[in-house]
Amino acid sequence: MEKIQKIKGFADLLADQATVFERLESAARRVFGQYGYKEARVPVLERTELFSRSIGEETDVVQKEMYTFPDRKGRSLTMRPEATAGMVRAYVENALHAQEELTKLFTYGPMFRYERPQKGRMRQFHQLDVEAFGSPSAHLDAEMLFMLGHFLTEIGIGELNFELNSLGCPDCRPAYQQALNDYFKGFDGGQLCEDCLRRKLTNPLRVLDCKVPSCKELTKGAPLISDYLCDDCRTHFATVTGVLDAAGFDYTLNPRLVRGLDYYVRTTFEVTSGKIGAQSAVAGGGRYDGLVKNLGGPDLPGVGFACGMERLALLMGDAGAAAPDFHLAVLGAQGLDAGLLLAQKLRAAGLSGECALAAKSAKAQMRQAGKSGARYCLILGESELADGTVVVKNMLAGTQETVSQDTLLDIIAP
Ligand code: HAM
Repeated sequence: MEKIQKIKGFADLLADQATVFERLESAARRVFGQYGYKEARVPVLERTELFSRSIGEETDVVQKEMYTFPDRKGRSLTMRPEATAGMVRAYVENALHAQEELTKLFTYGPMFRYERPQKGRMRQFHQLDVEAFGSPSAHLDAEMLFMLGHFLTEIGIGELNFELNSLGCPDCRPAYQQALNDYFKGFDGGQLCEDCLRRKLTNPLRVLDCKVPSCKELTKGAPLISDYLCDDCRTHFATVTGVLDAAGFDYTLNPRLVRGLDYYVRTTFEVTSGKIGAQSAVAGGGRYDGLVKNLGGPDLPGVGFACGMERLALLMGDAGAAAPDFHLAVLGAQGLDAGLLLAQKLRAAGLSGECALAAKSAKAQMRQAGKSGARYCLILGESELADGTVVVKNMLAGTQETVSQDTLLDIIAP
């Protein structure tokens, strides 16, 4: 029979890779919990309108990247391309705003975007996502950046670049959009891509996020949002950066950072790494005051971020995999019963490890022990079986001794 293969851009996460993901999830739960965030689990499938209305009709995500299909009754559904929209929907639908003034939630799981797959870019990928609803405070933005930095340090990832910008608000952004409009007006089809010819009229901020080289080149001369911020936005951003400065938190200002989603206002940020190739953004986020109202809720502010788990895993390498305590090698078929019982005794004492289920040569067994990364290789040969002993090989130290099976635990317990 012909093999059925997985879909392009989708991956099986096996063994060590799954362990790394599990480590990321438990570190997230621990660190985010320290800041008062609680877990939420929301659906991966939502009504298409949730995403088009929140992420924005002119974004690449909505225009080109969504997995959208009609259900059996003809309603348009979409596999979530990100988590924020669903988290806002859940916040509104469950009226969480009526229960507490500030709601702090995190979630994690698969997201779906029909992008061109490459290193660090998948069509099914995973995010750790954090959202806080109900507070307009610049101090919350700063705390969120502290928490993101804390989490990344906790999982052992360093040498990252935090880029920050303010995208203004509905009061000051129209003047900036007008300035962009005026700037891009002079450029035609020879200079701007087809999408941007439309975007320069409908949503000129999106031209700044275009990946087409000729558009990128043109944006270099475009006006900067930092020159158009109103007093309130300026004060808000100065408070965020002031707190970060006071804490000695490293970041760079990037007045061209616009992010790929339309819902952002004021503080926006992206974290990049120079070690994982072209897809260098490991996390991104910002404030989205106005989105809760836009999705039918009360006029309450929000701020959040998401980390890409595949990209974090690339940076972590093998550091996430756990090694077993022992590998038990049995050299003769008659020793398998005793071997299995001995392994059970060790596991009952809390140790982890495997017992060979078929008798193989000593050489093959040592190879298997080495591959497993076990701390100890235990060997049961004919003579050990006869006198109730076991050979204990310390794989790290390279030393070896023969001990009574009764005292084995004292020697190998961590
Ligand atoms: P985003 O920047 O679109 O923001 O995605 C966040 C992170 O997800 C990226 O920095 C990247 O690490 C990862 N990511 C995105 N697309 C892919 C892909 N195709 N393959 C692998 N990793 C990918 C958001 O999604 C916002 N919802 C973040 C947010 C939360 N803003 C406020 N709250």
